[in-house]
Amino acid sequence: MKVLSVVGARPQFVKLSPIAATLAQRDHHHVIVHTGQHYDRNMSDVFFTGLDIPPPDVNLEVGSGTHGRQTGAMLAAMDDVLERHRPDWVLVYGDTNSTVAGALSAAKMGLRVAHVEAGLRSFNRHMPEEHNRVLTDHAADLLLAPTTLAMSHLGREGLGARAVLVGDVMLDACRRVLIANRQQQPVLPPGVDPARPYLVATLHRAENTDEPSRLAALIGALAGLSMPVVLVAHPRLLQRAADAQIDLRSGAIRVIPPLPYVDMMAVIRRARAVVTDSGGLQKEAFLLGVPCTTPRSETEWPETLSAGWNVLAPTAGELRAIALREPPKTPHDSPFGDGLAADSIADALEGTHR
Ligand code: UD1
Repeated sequence: MKVLSVVGARPQFVKLSPIAATLAQRDHHHVIVHTGQHYDRNMSDVFFTGLDIPPPDVNLEVGSGTHGRQTGAMLAAMDDVLERHRPDWVLVYGDTNSTVAGALSAAKMGLRVAHVEAGLRSFNRHMPEEHNRVLTDHAADLLLAPTTLAMSHLGREGLGARAVLVGDVMLDACRRVLIANRQQQPVLPPGVDPARPYLVATLHRAENTDEPSRLAALIGALAGLSMPVVLVAHPRLLQRAADAQIDLRSGAIRVIPPLPYVDMMAVIRRARAVVTDSGGLQKEAFLLGVPCTTPRSETEWPETLSAGWNVLAPTAGELRAIALREPPKTPHDSPFGDGLAADSIADALEGTHR
């Protein structure tokens, strides 16, 4: 079987890693196409090397741009690549512009498309990721859903017949990295003692970064917390803060650049709490048993809200009030499967999934 994966943004490299390993184990021909959506070394290359992913076979090098330009450049470049490789399956991952571009170009070429992480919904139609999720699910032939809730969303949209529950491939990735790097020490900025409590924060969603007054309020809330805040800064956050003349290095905040996955897991594992608008990190905090606060009005991973392990804080005031709450007393359940999602995905592609 020949499978062609389309990836482009950081969380997709994480999802790709266990799938690439499983396809290699089963001797399938796997072609990796990198759209070039993320291109900085610390947003891209370190994930391939750190997670033992073979280097991309093709790089479309589309880079940054408005949504239309970025997605359009990917679409324009994909035709030749798909024509050359003619895979049995095109695999797309998650909810980025690279996902929708990969799905649409494959569908238009009459190639079968499978969507990893199908069925997630935030029900917020202002988010670019929500358009990407819905459009990709409706374009794809095989919907690889991570949770029972995702399956029910697909059923409600009339897509149940194309959907398979496979579990969450990010649990596979997280487990593999934790087992291989048990002794990994957190890399922290000067002045943050790993033996003392600290909070890890990330902000990159357009809804939090692109409106200067909201960004200033969120940064103000983090700066006022009573323990060091390690702010792992995505390039979008740095750019938008600079544009709006918001100083990220204020109060409790210590800014560091994006981390490789292994280091990020080590930093989260020892943290007292996490504040993030990233879907992936909400889930990783949950899996690692660290209380998380999400500065948004909704989440596409409501499973993480179980027993209060993740709590939504729509306003900066709420964020300030709850970010350092006590961890819940009750353990959470395991809604994300058994850590063997990559095997189930390979079974589904082979047509042997039960
Ligand atoms: C994208 C995804 C988002 C995902 C996130 C993970 C879409 C619509 N959004 O958001 O769902 O959670 O990736 O990180 O696809 N930039 C750099 N270097 C890079 C990459 C980006 O400097 O390597 C800058 C660019 O100037 C760009 C900005 O960051 O304008 C935003 O990048 P973009 O890929 O458009 O979206 P993300 O915010 O990363």
